[in-house]
Amino acid sequence: MGLLGSLTMLLLKILLFCSLRIVTAQTNSTGGARALDVLLQDYAYQALVRPKIRTGFVYDGVLPSNLTGIMVSALRLRSGSLRRYGVRMYKEFEIPIGVVEQPYVERLVLVYQNLGNWSVVYHPPPGYMYLAPVLGLLAYDASNLMAKNLSLLDIHASGQPISINFSDIKSLPEGPVPRCVAFNLNGTINFSVLSPDKKCTTFQLGHFSVVVESTAPPPAPVSPMPPGPGAGPVPSGHGKKNNSKVWIIVGSVLGGLALLVMLGLLVPWVHKYKKTKKMQRMERAAEVGESLEMTRVGSTKAPTATVTRTQPTLETEYVP
Ligand SMILES: *[C@@H]1O[C@H](CO)[C@@H](O)[C@H](O)[C@H]1NC(C)=O
Ligand SMILES: *[C@@H]1O[C@H](CO)[C@@H](O)[C@H](O)[C@H]1NC(C)=O
Ligand SMILES: *[C@@H]1O[C@H](CO)[C@@H](O)[C@H](O)[C@H]1NC(C)=O
Ligand SMILES: *[C@@H]1O[C@H](CO)[C@@H](O)[C@H](O)[C@H]1NC(C)=O
Ligand SMILES: *[C@@H]1O[C@H](CO)[C@@H](O)[C@H](O)[C@H]1NC(C)=O
Ligand SMILES: *[C@@H]1O[C@H](CO)[C@@H](O)[C@H](O)[C@H]1NC(C)=O
Ligand SMILES: *[C@@H]1O[C@H](CO)[C@@H](O)[C@H](O)[C@H]1NC(C)=O
Repeated sequence: MGLLGSLTMLLLKILLFCSLRIVTAQTNSTGGARALDVLLQDYAYQALVRPKIRTGFVYDGVLPSNLTGIMVSALRLRSGSLRRYGVRMYKEFEIPIGVVEQPYVERLVLVYQNLGNWSVVYHPPPGYMYLAPVLGLLAYDASNLMAKNLSLLDIHASGQPISINFSDIKSLPEGPVPRCVAFNLNGTINFSVLSPDKKCTTFQLGHFSVVVESTAPPPAPVSPMPPGPGAGPVPSGHGKKNNSKVWIIVGSVLGGLALLVMLGLLVPWVHKYKKTKKMQRMERAAEVGESLEMTRVGSTKAPTATVTRTQPTLETEYVP
């Protein structure tokens, strides 16, 4: 049973390794989103580094080729102006009157992000599918436009909520109801109702999108129109990858257990098999010995059976 013991140890080690992998994968996804925020803040601020910036004017950032698909913009405002007037339209966001930031700064920069096809990479929706890209709105201190890795300002809407216009999403005629999703800055996720005019609302900044529950695709018998790239919902490729990873882990663990059970059965079987083999060998040896004896003892070389099964009956015996 030494073999069995070491196999059990190996299996336990595999299990431990797998669970560690799951934990690190989860911490990486949120860490990745934070690192992206830091990177995008830098690129957004670079759009503001020019001879003359107009306050309240939106400047689009230029991103490196390894971030193609993401859009970033910067809007610099006096915080007093933000509180008194709000921002009527900043891309898809509408900021009402009465918004205050914490800690107080004299000027701030509102960084807008559209994560496009990177949405599922940085904000994998658990069990959902995106109907729109993830849009981010974050606020930073504007006092140093060369600053990197700035800490976020906490922005609260006190009266009316901030609204996000998702008018571009395609309406689903039937199926699951689309919902707003908010990725809060503290790492929690909130779901809320998508209004009939396709708007989501929030009282704080963060990342937002519209999702539907990704149920198993119905067995569509005929679909003459294949979904084109770009059109339609953003596929949750990352979620699938994660799912398949989990399945691989579950599969290998179950496989390992099955192997262990099989080995458990195999060891006694091999034992038994060896025994039977040995007995068969002994029997054969006995048989060989017997036949040798018989040939030695018998007068003829023809093999003779010790017991005659069917006695030959002579017809003449019945004749009177
Ligand atoms: C974190 O995840 C991203 C994609 O989700 C990947 O590109 C990156 O290499 C990962 N980082 C680490 C340290 O594993
Ligand atoms: C993209 O490339 C730049 C260098 O060109 C690098 O600093 C940055 O970390 C890269 N970003 C990602 C997300 O890989
Ligand atoms: C997003 O699309 C661009 C091209 O439009 C591509 O270069 C980039 O690799 C894509 N990103 C992801 C995560 O698929
Ligand atoms: C950014 O700042 C945080 C603390 O606010 C720090 O932990 C982190 O290492 C910094 N990252 C970079 C790239 O400087
Ligand atoms: C939402 O945005 C679209 C343009 O993308 C615009 O036509 C529409 O009027 C906006 N809706 C509201 C309620 O602001
Ligand atoms: C995280 O933030 C959201 C909204 O900003 C809030 O509703 C929630 O209570 C916070 N959760 C924690 C644990 O701080
Ligand atoms: C967000 O979700 C948390 C739980 O995850 C809940 O405590 C909080 O009240 C929610 N906030 C909003 C604004 O719905």
